[in-house]
Amino acid sequence: MKIAISGKGGVGKTTLCALLAMEMVRQGRKVLAIDADPNGSLAGALGYKESESGRIEPLIEKKALVEERTGAKPGSMGGYFVLNPKVDDLVHRFSVEINGLRLMVTGELKEALGGCYCPENALLRSFLRHLIVERDEWVLLDMEAGFEHLTRGTAESVSVLLVVVEPGQRAITTAKKISSLARQLHIKRIGYVFNKVHDDEQKRIMTDVLGAENVWAVIPFDMHAVHSDLSGTSPFDSCQGMLDTVRTLIDTLEAKA
Ligand SMILES: Nc1ncnc2c1ncn2[C@@H]1O[C@H](COP(=O)(O)OP(=O)(O)OP(=O)(O)O)[C@@H](O)[C@H]1O
Ligand SMILES: [Mg+2]
Repeated sequence: MKIAISGKGGVGKTTLCALLAMEMVRQGRKVLAIDADPNGSLAGALGYKESESGRIEPLIEKKALVEERTGAKPGSMGGYFVLNPKVDDLVHRFSVEINGLRLMVTGELKEALGGCYCPENALLRSFLRHLIVERDEWVLLDMEAGFEHLTRGTAESVSVLLVVVEPGQRAITTAKKISSLARQLHIKRIGYVFNKVHDDEQKRIMTDVLGAENVWAVIPFDMHAVHSDLSGTSPFDSCQGMLDTVRTLIDTLEAKA
């Protein structure tokens, strides 16, 4: 399954991605997590300590690799370069193993799906297609805030788009925009995940707007998540309340697969 996670900034995409990935691994699945956020923090949420183990260089910043694969220097525009560079060895070479799963940091995928013709994007576009169309493990993509990345191309092969929504009008409006765009792109299954929900009243208001049939999970507000973010530890170690819902969500995902 190829699962993309989107939603307004700060709603909890990275936290959800980390919890899903780590719980899936605990249950014995083979998981590849992709941090496609230019300011990504998925590694940290998975328990990786940058201060001890060093920064993971995003794929898009590997200038020598971009040049080797596309035949052109990164940043060059208008010249000739390979449009479908070889990418099937990149996960093997550049992913990092964290707590039993593999993480790949790509850097910004936004333009990779759009029309920017430069070597970096040719490599990323090709790599994204490989991830979504060719790989056989569970792939979880933590996308950046907003929905600019959902333009065309590989979108149709995404099995599920999870749109994270927190109680608040802006998050709800963004979620509606994302799902309408995703439908235009023929993403087959789109589910809302409510996050940071305090009570039934909040859930009811959000459900009224977004439609009960589209809500796949309701994750309660959990102070442990805030603490784990502050202390730089993984939410997997402390957020029991969130994990209970995440387990049910995994069952739902399996049922929809
Ligand atoms: N269920 C929850 N209860 C309380 N706090 C939460 C919950 N889920 C996430 N958070 C907190 O909300 C903040 C934002 O979460 P996170 O970084 O996962 O969001 P994001 O959508 O990935 O943000 P960005 O758009 O910046 O990438 C973090 O401090 C996180 O710990
Ligand atoms: Mg994030």
